[in-house]
Amino acid sequence: MSIEKSVAADEYHSKDFDWEDLRRDIESDPSFSFHLSPFLQSSSPSSDSQAWSHFHSRHSTGKFFKERRYLLKEFPDLLSCDDYSKVLEVGCGNGSTVLPILRAKEKTSVYACDCSVEALERAMQNIADADIENVIYRYHQFCCDFSVAQFPKWLACDLCRTKRVEKSLPYYTCIKYEVNESEGTLTSSPPNKDGRCCLGGVDFLTLIFTLSAVSPERMMTAVRECFSVLKPGGLLLFRDYGLYDMTMLRFEPEKRVGFRHYMRADGTLSYFFDLVCARDLFVGVGFIELELEYCCVKSVNRRKGKSMRRVWVHGKFQKPS
Ligand SMILES: C[S@@+](CC[C@H](N)C(=O)[O-])C[C@H]1O[C@@H](n2cnc3c(N)ncnc32)[C@H](O)[C@@H]1O
Repeated sequence: MSIEKSVAADEYHSKDFDWEDLRRDIESDPSFSFHLSPFLQSSSPSSDSQAWSHFHSRHSTGKFFKERRYLLKEFPDLLSCDDYSKVLEVGCGNGSTVLPILRAKEKTSVYACDCSVEALERAMQNIADADIENVIYRYHQFCCDFSVAQFPKWLACDLCRTKRVEKSLPYYTCIKYEVNESEGTLTSSPPNKDGRCCLGGVDFLTLIFTLSAVSPERMMTAVRECFSVLKPGGLLLFRDYGLYDMTMLRFEPEKRVGFRHYMRADGTLSYFFDLVCARDLFVGVGFIELELEYCCVKSVNRRKGKSMRRVWVHGKFQKPS
């Protein structure tokens, strides 16, 4: 994580090496063989949030994660979207992903959640310090561990989650439908007095270095939850650690807690995705794959004079309309 923050924005766009070459190097090197062996007994904790709360408390200046300036270049849909689009940033940390989105489009609203209250405090402070226009109307945050709990109903009610959104109404308005079980019919009832039952879901959901922090056995549930709060046609933007990233290869054997899954010294977890695993997760819950690839970047540690091969997975997935 510490190296990630030192890489300049432009470097994130290059394809410095071929992932298949890296794979061949790693899989033929006996010193890395323990990373490849099957792991039968996973020892992941039941919840990941406590370690993250400790992490955010320790990094109390909130400056540990830098603003992700490359985000809009990697995900230009966040720039070209309609006015009044809504974005949900899941696992917002101290606001590194939220900030560039709020700055880029003054009519975009950002909803952000994290499982750690401490993270949310840092995010709120960083966003207040950034002096962004109308931010109090455009930024809303809440605490949620999306791997074990649903997103709040005010974001997307049960009816919006199951896609029964009336398209001819203003985009934020959802109609409540009553199901008459005995007659098998649907009748609509008027929305609340302010014209809304809920937000009607979001246009974009960003998962930036968050899913890797969720235990693999809960990832599918977490991704399904993301699917459910997107509007039909909405986009999920994904970026996370890729298989054979340098940070994976630095873990010692005793740090393994599962296959491609490691625990850092501070107790936070990190999973390393290959494209097949990412595809299975997102397509498996109903997303359409629009983009999915490795980003392979050579980064030089000038102090040590060492070149490091960084690997991230970049994905863009759409909820069917
Ligand atoms: C590596 S940080 C990424 C932060 C941010 N997305 C960014 O772009 O910098 C991962 C964040 O996810 C949060 N997180 C981890 N597991 C979570 C979960 N199950 N539900 C919600 N947030 C979670 C952590 O507290 C942490 O702030």
